[in-house]
Amino acid sequence: MNKPNSNLDSGPSHLSRRVFVKRSALAATGTALAAHFPAIVTAHAAPDSVVRIGMVGVGGRGTGLLGILLSMKGIQVPAVCDIDTAAATRAQGMIANSGRPQPELYTRGDEDFQRLMDRADLAAVIIATPWEWHATMAVCGMKAGKYVGVEVPAAITIEECRDLVRTAELTRKPCMMLENWSFRRDNLAVLNMIRQGLFGEIVHCHCAHSHNCVYWYFDAKGNPRWSAEHLARHNADQYPTHSLGPVLSWMNINCGDRFDYLTSTATRSLGLNLQLAEKYGPDYPSARRRYAQGDIITSVVKTVKGNTIVINNDMQLPRPYDNRWEIQGTRGLYNEQRNAVYIQGVSPAYEQWEPFGPYQEKYDHAWWKALKAESGDAGHGGTDVLELEHFIRAVREATQTPVDVYDSVIMSAVIPLSLESIARGSYPVKCPDFTQGKWQTRKPAFAVET
Ligand SMILES: NC(=O)c1ccc[n+]([C@@H]2O[C@H](COP(=O)([O-])OP(=O)(O)OC[C@H]3O[C@@H](n4cnc5c(N)ncnc54)[C@H](O)[C@@H]3O)[C@@H](O)[C@H]2O)c1
Repeated sequence: MNKPNSNLDSGPSHLSRRVFVKRSALAATGTALAAHFPAIVTAHAAPDSVVRIGMVGVGGRGTGLLGILLSMKGIQVPAVCDIDTAAATRAQGMIANSGRPQPELYTRGDEDFQRLMDRADLAAVIIATPWEWHATMAVCGMKAGKYVGVEVPAAITIEECRDLVRTAELTRKPCMMLENWSFRRDNLAVLNMIRQGLFGEIVHCHCAHSHNCVYWYFDAKGNPRWSAEHLARHNADQYPTHSLGPVLSWMNINCGDRFDYLTSTATRSLGLNLQLAEKYGPDYPSARRRYAQGDIITSVVKTVKGNTIVINNDMQLPRPYDNRWEIQGTRGLYNEQRNAVYIQGVSPAYEQWEPFGPYQEKYDHAWWKALKAESGDAGHGGTDVLELEHFIRAVREATQTPVDVYDSVIMSAVIPLSLESIARGSYPVKCPDFTQGKWQTRKPAFAVET
């Protein structure tokens, strides 16, 4: 019988040989960089001054983030890196069209991001590349003295999670995973309600990322993109961060509680093959290929305080988009799908749902009130705007980012933990304490209203 927790550090087996060798070499380069920059490189802007940001990866998501940055005042983007010259040139055009100076491009291959990180004028970098690059690039950025905003997930192995934490602690540079659903208007109002005690003591949460992403995994001709390669090789919850984002602050994870252990179970894998066969024919190579990824992954986390979190990953079957958030306490609960709450002694009818709408108005978060007052909505209904605004505010004011490195890695760690649990027949896998005990004394910091 396997021992629990015997192989938490998923190493090369989780990565292609090519990427692993390349990343190991880069990690060594990063160490050399750290020796080069023993103190924190202060590229910080003073309050109200211009913040200079470097973009790494300007495909679909990076271009979207860049567009939002360019709509903001006090932002310059003097450097853009992408291995795809056409993507980098498109970003260059966007920046020039916004009236800003033409950025320098870094397009000399997979490792050219290092030259961008070395620029002394950048206070921060935003990374929106394929998953297998995130941690390597983020570590390099912190070692070069930059604030790092890295797309989801921040890491895909436990060793990468540890590396991010080590580097953030060593360099004292914040690393924020750009987990946007934490900033959603409804989720922040629910956070206010929880903090005001409306639901009593929180004991349980359900969350999901249910989103048919077959055409994000494959290109317009049905050929696999980089993301599909992960599905071919791994059976795990490979995208747990959007579901978990708001849950961390709802349940005081890393500041009063922490993940103890996790079990994950996968269904069989049918959705990718069926959807591709329907569109391209049954003999199409992508439709015939075998994918390790099960259609639906159900993970259960037990926290040390004794609470539970169910996380569903459901991203390759035809279905409408859904997050299925439900947070339950000793006095009541919120259910996102029903857009409803029930609060004992407050809701008018005994044990009957009532609409969430009036609560949304009453407990609306100050961030959303300010956003609506100043600019209206943009990008994921304004959520992406808020996320970037608060990341940049932290850079400008040299403070901690709203999502810190510990939050970034615990959400990401569900990937390797679920991989291991599924591989071992839904075995309970211990979750590392990346805070090394600090969760017991850390105070909630995300979106605290003053
Ligand atoms: N937060 C969200 O809502 C959200 C939405 C979509 C995607 N994402 C995340 O954004 C990231 C990018 O996804 P995408 O859909 O934009 O993918 P994409 O393939 O469209 O873009 C990735 C870009 O990175 C570039 N790239 C690859 N390797 C590189 C390297 N070594 N150096 C520099 N550039 C490199 C590619 O050429 C491409 O332009 C992923 O991590 C994804 O999970 C987040």
